[in-house]
Amino acid sequence: MSHKRVAILISGGGSNMVSLVDSMTGDHPARPCLVLSNDANAGGLTKAAERGIPTASVDHRPFKGDRAAFEAELLKPLEEAQPDIVCLAGFMRVLTGGFVSRFQGRMLNIHPSLLPKYKGLNTHARAIEAGDAEHGCSVHEVTAALDDGPILGQARVDIEPGDTSEALAARVLVWEHKLYPTVLRRYASGDRTPVLLP
Ligand code: GRF
Repeated sequence: MSHKRVAILISGGGSNMVSLVDSMTGDHPARPCLVLSNDANAGGLTKAAERGIPTASVDHRPFKGDRAAFEAELLKPLEEAQPDIVCLAGFMRVLTGGFVSRFQGRMLNIHPSLLPKYKGLNTHARAIEAGDAEHGCSVHEVTAALDDGPILGQARVDIEPGDTSEALAARVLVWEHKLYPTVLRRYASGDRTPVLLP
């Protein structure tokens, strides 16, 4: 059985990357082929190396905002790894439409809100400030517009009275680690029907 090759892009600790990698075993239709970061000191690179996965990093800072030049470098280890699927997992650089179009229809992202609500940053604080009763996370296909592509899965989390954004973020992250592997397994076997947890 030939497995789908999955490259995972991270910027930080990589807890979502770990949940994806640890799920790709046994009869799973995919296997990780690369973990790539824009920060050579990202804790997730160490966790990936400990799991025997090839890693690489391309620092965005020397490019001083020249995204096209940064992405041209980022593409090199990616093209070498020849992924069938690319997963953004806590990758905090906004990618250009040109980059995204190279992986159109095979790039996923996890976002800590119930999209289309709260695209962008500080999603937990914004949901609390708005007085929402529930919040959560979403996995979507990546398109040129930020946090905008077709939704493939969501997990809902109640907002508790007196919730802080830290406490809410921690509860949402637990569901991120369940939702992303669930969606990836379906996606790698060609199933794009949305899933709703719990
Ligand atoms: C997660 O909440 C993810 O949704 C957001 O960044 C956080 C990073 O988590 N984009 P990790 O690096 O996967 O631990």
